[in-house]
Amino acid sequence: MSGRPPVSPLSPTQAQRASQVVGHLIGSPRSPSSGMQTERNVTAAAAASTSAPASAGSVPSRPLPPYSTPTPLFPSEPHLLLRRLEASDYSKGHVQLLAQLSDVGSVSREEYEERVEYMQHHCGGMITTLVVEDTQRGCIVASATLISEPKLLHSCSRAGHIEDVVVSDGYRGRALGLRIVQALHEVARHTGCYKVMLDCKESNAAFYEKMGYKPNQMHMRLDL
Ligand SMILES: CC(C)(COP(=O)(O)OP(=O)(O)OC[C@H]1O[C@@H](n2cnc3c(N)ncnc32)[C@H](O)[C@@H]1OP(=O)(O)O)[C@@H](O)C(=O)NCCC(=O)NCCS
Repeated sequence: MSGRPPVSPLSPTQAQRASQVVGHLIGSPRSPSSGMQTERNVTAAAAASTSAPASAGSVPSRPLPPYSTPTPLFPSEPHLLLRRLEASDYSKGHVQLLAQLSDVGSVSREEYEERVEYMQHHCGGMITTLVVEDTQRGCIVASATLISEPKLLHSCSRAGHIEDVVVSDGYRGRALGLRIVQALHEVARHTGCYKVMLDCKESNAAFYEKMGYKPNQMHMRLDL
């Protein structure tokens, strides 16, 4: 969870190619007899998360993925809504929030919107960013991302990677971090992950240990 290079948006051709590759990766359904969630189900669920609500009178075939609609984080603070990231969140300070975590570089509104659109609609439901919006102030105050990695191992299961967890400094210590990470666990289960992993600074280890995480192996990095 350290510094990232500045965002370089994909050209329409690159995005189309990437979409084809991702579609190819996740396209083959697993045997329904396995009892586990099939890749086709996962893809359909991901598509449902971005499609329009069912028209009046029609019956949706399966429930929407978690947090497809904004959900109050705490009953006592209904203005704190947990929801999926939207391209319009640029104007709600999402980039400034991410800057509290690491170097964001320079990201224009156009680049941001293009990247959010790409992550939501061209990655086969593999990437979920949840945010908390303070609707009283119209700003994003917490953010965290799940990458649901399709595996060949473990009977073609998935592994979740949690990235870029940040709570705005004025909102820390109020369980927003805890709730947004736990919400990603729900999304991870929904997409068929059998585990979630993350890297963190030693100073944040106790935060994750409170949710049941345990130190595991060693983190390696090569800057490119
Ligand atoms: C780390 C971070 C996400 C925690 O968010 P938060 O909303 O302040 O945390 P919460 O209020 O949900 O904390 C939940 C529990 O963890 C504890 N906790 C939070 N951060 C902790 C830390 N760094 N060390 C030890 N305990 C911590 C809290 O005291 C609380 O304990 P309690 O339930 O016993 O009261 C937030 O401090 C942050 O955004 N930091 C800067 C960016 C960053 O480092 N992100 C993490 C990258 S790995």
